[in-house]
Amino acid sequence: MTPNLTPGSTKAQKLARKTLAREANRIREISGADLLRNPGRFAANHQHVLGILFDWSNQRIDSDSMTALESLAEAWNLDEFLQAVSRGAKVNSSEGRSALHMALREPRVESSQNEPQFVQDRCEFLDFADSVRDGAVRGFNGNAFTDVVHIGIGGSHLGPALVCDALTADNRLSVHFCSNADRRVLNELLAKLDPARTLFIVASKSYATHETLENARFVKDWMYERVDSNADIAQHFVHITSKQDLNVGMERVLRISRSIGGRFSLWSAMGLPIALYLGSKRFLDLLKGAHEMDRHVLGSSLSNNVAVRSALLGLWNANYLGATSHLVLPYDSRLKLLPAYCQQLEMESNGKSVGSDNQPVDYNTSPVVWGGLETDGQHAWHQFLHQGTQNYSADIVASLDALPASTNLESHQWILANAVGQSSVMLKGNNANSVEAHQVIPGNHGSTLIFLDKLDAHTLGSLLAMYEHKVAYLGHLWGVNSFDQWGVEEGKRVSGILASSLRGENTEDVDESTIQLLRTIRARFKTR
Ligand code: F6P
Repeated sequence: MTPNLTPGSTKAQKLARKTLAREANRIREISGADLLRNPGRFAANHQHVLGILFDWSNQRIDSDSMTALESLAEAWNLDEFLQAVSRGAKVNSSEGRSALHMALREPRVESSQNEPQFVQDRCEFLDFADSVRDGAVRGFNGNAFTDVVHIGIGGSHLGPALVCDALTADNRLSVHFCSNADRRVLNELLAKLDPARTLFIVASKSYATHETLENARFVKDWMYERVDSNADIAQHFVHITSKQDLNVGMERVLRISRSIGGRFSLWSAMGLPIALYLGSKRFLDLLKGAHEMDRHVLGSSLSNNVAVRSALLGLWNANYLGATSHLVLPYDSRLKLLPAYCQQLEMESNGKSVGSDNQPVDYNTSPVVWGGLETDGQHAWHQFLHQGTQNYSADIVASLDALPASTNLESHQWILANAVGQSSVMLKGNNANSVEAHQVIPGNHGSTLIFLDKLDAHTLGSLLAMYEHKVAYLGHLWGVNSFDQWGVEEGKRVSGILASSLRGENTEDVDESTIQLLRTIRARFKTR
């Protein structure tokens, strides 16, 4: 069991922590089936906000434990925390920066003379996107663009890829995503594309990410090998970055503020592929959905704030009920990339063991976040979930907008029944007295059902903004900085040294065992 978590030394914080520990001991003695006997449970544990139904009935809570969680939220001033974030407080303490992702979706003030920089930047990339879609911006030989290749990784990839995958668009432009250094993916993609009609986006906040820069170099060479030397290919490249002094000649550069975290950046120019795919109007719908979620979390009481509830239950499961992982389980193929998006958002934000005060923490912070498309998962990891030895929590996400035609409705209803059924079994398990030992399903795993009335730009924007706020609230409760990611740097440094060692260039700073491994790899390395 992890010790009771959360730092905090005020009297209210100590009392909240003590009460919560007592509540956890009580709840652990109540079976999931008994929790569900309360007839008023659904009424007390669901909210319908911005076209999204959040149902917490299958979480391991009752009214007293939920009250204790809300007391913790008050003791940690979660409402003031997010107000401070929205006002630009330097919450990214290690880098001395704000976290201004909410400003990105502030609507334009039409009458305003001097538009904020974010709005000017937004207008620039949306106008460019529409110009490409309308054929006003064309390739070197006057052909309109038909394909876009977005080159980026992590936060410069996952959000845009998720949104483009989730939402259907007209087929004016085909948008392709290339994230890692495996050239097989890029080679297979380029083989299908016409250089004269392809627009490349090089997306990197730092403009220092090896995979992205190498892929950018590769596609530039690919272009040069296929067009006349006198062709002006500047129109075929757009760069999205926070790097101030980027010199790319006549090629277009779209800027992102350094106060926008990569995993919080899809609302910025990083969302260019979304705007190219959906058009500016629907991109603005995405922003509107996120902005309305911002208004919900900034304007609601703690007990009515769906992101606060999500964060409190994340903390409750991870630190008081012993959950070591949290699953994101989409029961809709359009949301198959949601688990990967949430993995980075949650684990890169809160996968930390030193607090913002630079002191080590003595409790668990982010759980392992994983998952995948359902109902496929029911044939892959649900045995583990229902009879394994690890405790977990889950978000089960589905959409209620079935495809047209009754046959599709029947299959859609079957999928929804599985979403609800699996959530129920996760909590209730089965009746141990009526089955043999190897058939017992203990249950006692909490899950939240999240049902979108309709999967469109607006509800997707609201959902993703809710997850951003959940992560920020959780980081504040855990006392960590959710907006930096120092932990990724050492792996990059060592890998760079080993890459040159693999090329036989140097073996400094490399231990003998690794040197022998590299020699073995080099000896067996074959280029086809
Ligand atoms: O290495 C981690 C990381 O910095 C993420 O935080 C970021 O989203 C990703 O790599 C890509 O970084 P960049 O946009 O600077 O290429």
